[in-house]
Amino acid sequence: MASLLLHSTLLFSLLLISSAFAQTSFRPTALILPVQKDPSTLQYLTNLNQRTPLVPVNLTLDLGGQFLWVNCEQGYSSSSYRPARCGSAQCSLAGSKSCTTECYSAPKPGCYNNTCGLLPDNTVTHTSTGGDLGSDIVTVESTDGKNPGKVVSVPHFLFVCGSTSLLEGLASGVKGMAGLGRTKISLPSQFSTAFSFHKKFAICLSSSTRSNGVAIFGDGPYMFLPNIDASTSLVYTPLIRNPVSTASASFSGDASSDYFIGVKSIKIGGKNVPINTTLLTIDSEGNGGTKISTVNPYTVLETSIYKAVTKFFINELSGVPRVASVAPFEACFNSKNISSTRVGPGVPAIFLVLQSETVFWSIYGANSMVQVSDDVLCLGFVDGGAKPRTSIVIGGYQLEDNLLQFDLAASRLGFSSSLFFMRTTCANFNFTSNA
Ligand SMILES: *[C@@H]1O[C@H](CO)[C@@H](O)[C@H](O)[C@H]1NC(C)=O
Ligand SMILES: *[C@@H]1O[C@H](CO)[C@@H](O)[C@H](O)[C@H]1NC(C)=O
Ligand SMILES: *[C@@H]1O[C@H](CO)[C@@H](O)[C@H](O)[C@H]1NC(C)=O
Ligand SMILES: *[C@@H]1O[C@H](CO)[C@@H](O)[C@H](O)[C@H]1NC(C)=O
Ligand SMILES: *[C@@H]1O[C@H](CO)[C@@H](O)[C@H](O)[C@H]1NC(C)=O
Repeated sequence: MASLLLHSTLLFSLLLISSAFAQTSFRPTALILPVQKDPSTLQYLTNLNQRTPLVPVNLTLDLGGQFLWVNCEQGYSSSSYRPARCGSAQCSLAGSKSCTTECYSAPKPGCYNNTCGLLPDNTVTHTSTGGDLGSDIVTVESTDGKNPGKVVSVPHFLFVCGSTSLLEGLASGVKGMAGLGRTKISLPSQFSTAFSFHKKFAICLSSSTRSNGVAIFGDGPYMFLPNIDASTSLVYTPLIRNPVSTASASFSGDASSDYFIGVKSIKIGGKNVPINTTLLTIDSEGNGGTKISTVNPYTVLETSIYKAVTKFFINELSGVPRVASVAPFEACFNSKNISSTRVGPGVPAIFLVLQSETVFWSIYGANSMVQVSDDVLCLGFVDGGAKPRTSIVIGGYQLEDNLLQFDLAASRLGFSSSLFFMRTTCANFNFTSNA
């Protein structure tokens, strides 16, 4: 009897696999998701189609997030949902360390007996709960790097069930978060495994709330109108592993899923800003260092670094009258006294110096200065307090109109600096499908 059961399950899954291939006999080399900036929360949103029947699911994009999580408590109905059974290959791939042996209500997504669990994390509010691992069908558009193309499906895409309360603090209409972090079940990992393409992905966040930026899974080209391949402008720096989780809740021994880079010093207007460089390294407890985040709207600096950078910047801009601070910013100026350049307001460039003096992430006016009112521009960095977990968190505003490519196999980050130099922007991807 047992072997008969096993046999029919096997046959069933073989059928599923072959039907999946029949649908997608075409194998994509890259996939694309639109990324929209939400004007009220400043979160970057994306959407996927999931479930049977398919429904569009809006999500907050979380670059360092561990996996996809969606609210299963309300409105999750799907005939293709499958819970991940404790001890299964899916649970071990996901690194689950917990098992729900019994769920005391009628079975539904997020409540099955013998299902392994993870800790879905709202990284905006730093709230985490327990949630069951499961899989369901997801469909996404493929791309040739120029336009969206055929829609392809991943029949058993792993995700975690979150709850209605975990959505608090996320943009209106959002049903969960799309994690692109350093795990085996993040979106980039599952997509590249499903279609055997390069373990690489890129994000290009638009500074406009009216035109979409993009996330592209797979290798370049990454073409932006008028026919510019932004992947040709990349400079590389190693991605650094933080061995200690930076999530709101975690199991001991879990590594961080965030992307860290090795900032060694900060220069403004070509001069070194005096900062305590110990803060730039990751200590044995996982504190310190520099990470990249799409859930922080602005770069967050540990207090002493924040003070040093602000003071130095104000000195370098001497001659331009300061005006009253506008929270959460401190250094604000009369914009009438600041010229305009191709890369935004004409202010001293800020360089984050990386593995050598010749490799640096440059932040020009378009990414450093925030227009808070008609005639006020503020330095768009915020104070992270005295003992933050991570000393420098490079936030969304500083990433906009820059192409970032995460090469997971080579563990390196490619960054383009402002695409304005190439006379394009992240809003210039051509979303007209050529399928
Ligand atoms: C879990 O198992 C218990 C006892 O075996 C059963 O009463 C309960 O209905 C099951 N719950 C679910 C969600 O399947
Ligand atoms: C999801 O996002 C799309 C595109 O931004 C928007 O048109 C739609 O109204 C959103 N859906 C919900 C439920 O908020
Ligand atoms: C530099 O930062 C480290 C880590 O927080 C701290 O232990 C040390 O005292 C700081 N050094 C100075 C000179 O402030
Ligand atoms: C700043 O701009 C105002 C208004 O345009 C002008 O009157 C003033 O002279 C400028 N100040 C400096 C220091 O450039
Ligand atoms: C965008 O792509 C479509 C489909 O390939 C093409 O017809 C259109 O000309 C492109 N738009 C621009 C502005 O190049």
